[in-house]
Amino acid sequence: MDHLKQKMKPTVKVLLLVSCLTVFLVFMSGYLKDTPLSLDVGSGSPCQQCLSDDQWFAARFNKSVEPFLSAEHTLPKDAFNWWKYLQNEKRSYDVYSETVRNLFQVFPATPNVQKPSPNHCRTCAVVGNSGNLKGSCYGPLINSHNIILRMNTGRTTGYEADVGHRTTHRIMYPESGMDLDDDTHLVLFPFKIQDLEWVTKALTTGFFGTSYMPVRHKIKANKDLVMVINPAFMKYVHETWLEKRGGYPSTGFMSLIMALHICDEVHVFGFGADKDGNWNHYWEELRNKKLKTGLHPGTHEYETILRLARHLKIKFYMGS
Ligand SMILES: *[C@@H]1O[C@H](CO)[C@@H](O)[C@H](O)[C@H]1NC(C)=O
Repeated sequence: MDHLKQKMKPTVKVLLLVSCLTVFLVFMSGYLKDTPLSLDVGSGSPCQQCLSDDQWFAARFNKSVEPFLSAEHTLPKDAFNWWKYLQNEKRSYDVYSETVRNLFQVFPATPNVQKPSPNHCRTCAVVGNSGNLKGSCYGPLINSHNIILRMNTGRTTGYEADVGHRTTHRIMYPESGMDLDDDTHLVLFPFKIQDLEWVTKALTTGFFGTSYMPVRHKIKANKDLVMVINPAFMKYVHETWLEKRGGYPSTGFMSLIMALHICDEVHVFGFGADKDGNWNHYWEELRNKKLKTGLHPGTHEYETILRLARHLKIKFYMGS
């Protein structure tokens, strides 16, 4: 039996590869032929995406809210007062400001973000961790984007056929800290002042505090590619995009709205349940069939994502 299995394995792998490639080619030929996103934006746009007037979108999307902190940015007091309740911050606004000043002694004063240009479409893949990526064959399609954002510990090794292998941006917080390649951006989602201290120290002298989970003392990442989400941006996502529903937005949802602010075209993978309604991660075997985390159908976040897709502001891939 074992012998047979070993003999079968390469064949199965080749078959899988061929089937993935077929799916990709069929998809791309359809994509090129009738370009699902193309509603002709007129001359001058490098993208295929529809940028037509859309009241629902225009009432929410606010270009002037900065997604990332920079050395010159001053956080409005009301944004700090909203943010400090997320994880029960006890320290003051002044401590926050001092911590941010220290942070910009180590990291670039302005975040390393690609600017819009009439000659270049910044296409982004936002890759969530849903089990619906398993068997999806999205790997080559995901790899084809300029910017590829992954969340927390979402892994690629061993899952390349379904999730791709490139990562240009890794969203993390201290409790999900990991080592990065030298050309991957670290995008920190801060939920408390300590998170700002963590990123500063974990890339320099080491961080020796404690959190609700063990956190890494040190991580490897390129200091020039560190960017930190602006707490005022989190507040904007909560108030404007979710109409203040729920405690605060999920990391996945905030990442998706962030992508709308830094990309010209947003393609969304690995969000929501799989076709059987399960909520496992794509690298996990399904053990608890009742597991409920992530974005649920019926929640405001999920509805908003589907609505963005209906309004052609994102392309949403359902997976398998
Ligand atoms: C957009 O954001 C800016 C900066 O936070 C704010 O001053 C402005 O009032 C916002 N505009 C709308 C229409 O909400």
